[in-house]
Amino acid sequence: MNTYAAGHSMVIRSATEEDLDRVLEIDQLSFPTPWTPHTFKIALKDIFFVIEQKEIIGYIVACICDLGLRVEILRIAVHPDHRGKGVAKELLETSLRFFSEENVEAVELRVNSANRSAVKFYEKFGFEIKNFATIIGDQEFDIFYVMKLKLPEPIEAKNWPLEKFCPEVAYYTVQLAG
Ligand SMILES: CC(C)(COP(=O)(O)OP(=O)(O)OC[C@H]1O[C@@H](n2cnc3c(N)ncnc32)[C@H](O)[C@@H]1OP(=O)(O)O)[C@@H](O)C(=O)NCCC(=O)NCCS
Repeated sequence: MNTYAAGHSMVIRSATEEDLDRVLEIDQLSFPTPWTPHTFKIALKDIFFVIEQKEIIGYIVACICDLGLRVEILRIAVHPDHRGKGVAKELLETSLRFFSEENVEAVELRVNSANRSAVKFYEKFGFEIKNFATIIGDQEFDIFYVMKLKLPEPIEAKNWPLEKFCPEVAYYTVQLAG
C-alpha cells in the first residue's frame, strides 16, 4: 500500500524510518513493555502502516505467515489524546481490506486477556477467541487470547463490502469527535 485517504483528513500510509521517533513515543504511552527502536526498525520490513492527521496518531504492525495465507497483527496503538474517535477502526479496516486484496485468508493476533478494551475492539471486527497462551514471567504469568478472523474471498477493491464478513461494521459511524 502506498497512501490511503481516510475520513476527516486522515491519511494511512506505509511507515518509514523517519516516522519511528513518533511511533516509539506512542508505543511508550500505550504498552507496559514498549518495543525497542531496533524492533520497530525490523518491523519496517513487514506490514507497518501509520495513520496521520497533521502528525502521526497511530500505527499497526503485522507480518505475513504461511506463504501469504495468514497475517498476524503484532501491534496496534493510537495516541491516548486521539482514542475513542474511530482512529484504530480506520486503521484496522484499511489493513483488513489490504490483506484481503493480497489474498490473505485469515488474520490472527494475541492479546493480553487483561486488556479488555483491546479484546472488545477486536470483537467489534468479528475476531473470535480461538485459544489461550500463557506467558510465564519471574513472579507472575499473563494469559493471552489467540483471536482469529477469517477474511472473505478477495473481490474488486473499490466495491469491497466490509459488512460481508462483519455486519456490525456497517453500523459504525465514521464521524470523528472534535
Ligand atoms: C485499542 C486501541 C487501539 C483502540 O483505539 P481507538 O482509536 O480508541 O479505537 P476506536 O475509537 O477506533 O474504536 C473502535 C471500536 O472499538 C471499541 N473500543 C475501542 N476502545 C474501547 C474501550 N476502551 N472499551 C470498549 N470498547 C472499545 C469500540 O467498540 C469502538 O466502537 P464504537 O465506535 O462503536 O464505540 C487503543 O485503545 C490503544 O491504542 N490501546 C493501547 C494499545 C493496545 O492495547 N493495543 C491493542 C493490543 S496490540
